[in-house]
Amino acid sequence: MARAKKPATTSLASDPVHVLFASAEAAPVARVGGLAEASAGLIRSLRTRDDVRLDVVLPDYGDVVLDDESTSTLPGVSWTGPLTVRTGQADQLGRVSLIGWEAMHRPHPYVDETGLGWEDNADRFFGFSAGVAQLAEALDPHVVHCNDWHTAMTLAWSERPSVYTIHTLGYQGQADIGWLREITTDRASAFDRWGELNPAAGAIRLADRVIAVSPNYAQEILDPARSAGLHGVLSGRGEDLVGIRNGIDVSLWNPADDPHLHVGYGPTSLADKAEAKHELCAELGWEDVESPVIGVVTRLVEQKGLDLLLGLIPYLDRAGARIALLGSGEERLSLWARDLSTRSPEQLAFVEGYDVALAHRIFAGADLFAMPSRFEPCGLAQMQSMAYGTIPVVTPVGGLVDTVIDADADPDAGNGFVAVTVDGVGMLDAIHRALRAWHDTRRRARLQKRGMKTDWSWDQPTEQHVEIYRSVRSDSAVE
Ligand code: GLC
Repeated sequence: MARAKKPATTSLASDPVHVLFASAEAAPVARVGGLAEASAGLIRSLRTRDDVRLDVVLPDYGDVVLDDESTSTLPGVSWTGPLTVRTGQADQLGRVSLIGWEAMHRPHPYVDETGLGWEDNADRFFGFSAGVAQLAEALDPHVVHCNDWHTAMTLAWSERPSVYTIHTLGYQGQADIGWLREITTDRASAFDRWGELNPAAGAIRLADRVIAVSPNYAQEILDPARSAGLHGVLSGRGEDLVGIRNGIDVSLWNPADDPHLHVGYGPTSLADKAEAKHELCAELGWEDVESPVIGVVTRLVEQKGLDLLLGLIPYLDRAGARIALLGSGEERLSLWARDLSTRSPEQLAFVEGYDVALAHRIFAGADLFAMPSRFEPCGLAQMQSMAYGTIPVVTPVGGLVDTVIDADADPDAGNGFVAVTVDGVGMLDAIHRALRAWHDTRRRARLQKRGMKTDWSWDQPTEQHVEIYRSVRSDSAVE
């Protein structure tokens, strides 16, 4: 496929930039983790702009209802056969296209009921990516924006101007090198990495720009110890690798107007936050409504470091603090949390699952919010907690460093507490420091207000995305 060349004209700046945005998740249509929230937030924010024309494409996992639906087909590839494209209005996202065929329809996007990845995930997401490339031919956007490995193979088939966002390097989508015999395009060899087919590596090599989801993560992944093997490929991109932190959707994360809370509050009515704490304690079966509550809302996976925090429960008892944990994921972590919460219900309340309403009530009702992540490309929960006046306590990794400023190290700008080391001791020290600040009610209010008044919205990050789209378009126009 030849790169579509656009004539360079002076009207380029005023002409809306047409973007095809592809992701495996966008809330609420398909949601597993932060990718879903980040995609949805950016999509909704881009849609408010008249200098952007946006098409969105997601996999059709089945069961999604679209309004005003129309159906078309794409040729697909040998292992998929023809692909069905359903286009229509999706809840909260607006107009989207869903690409599907039988193998794409599953109850969970990635894993079976035991938590193991579907065996045919390479067939599914490489097939989807081929579909995205074919859709791009039909829609003729200025820029194709792919997100994480599930959409990375698009760039094997499509030579259009492109942007690739790294939400995490923890998953790169490696598959057998034999795939190169199936994907016979000129560009397929870019995906060969150490004898495997590596979608993330190929997209990092081929995209016109690579975005990491925070400036600090963009730096971290150049370090061999933190790049999950891709530092060489990444450093080869020089200035084409940029970090843009995610935003949060402030229309959904606003404590003054939150349908999941009985009483709203803002930076000038912080006393009403106590109401949310009362409600949360009642919901979790805690009679004590005074002692500090540390909220945790997370996927129970290695990355999120919950084990570091669970090991601290006996020490928190002595500090008079307890943990309100909501999450689901790996069995070893949920068993451990369940066991601890049965033995020490006053120290740990564990609600297993994914519950948007309870998540909002934890962000509002907790006093502190803990994120003991081993790595965290951006992280959204720390921004959500600050928007709710709940002081974050985090490890010094990825986007947490870009958003949380330690209030002991920088009293004038501090909005939370950052552990010095990524381990239990570091977190315990940071929690103790946070509790000291929390007990000092004037200092507490200062930190809360600072977090609440910061603009965590998508406005600025979206502006930075649009600048990249524009520059990719104008580069391709002058080629
Ligand atoms: C991934 C990362 C997380 C990031 C999210 C959205 O889930 O682990 O840090 O916030 O993607 O970009």
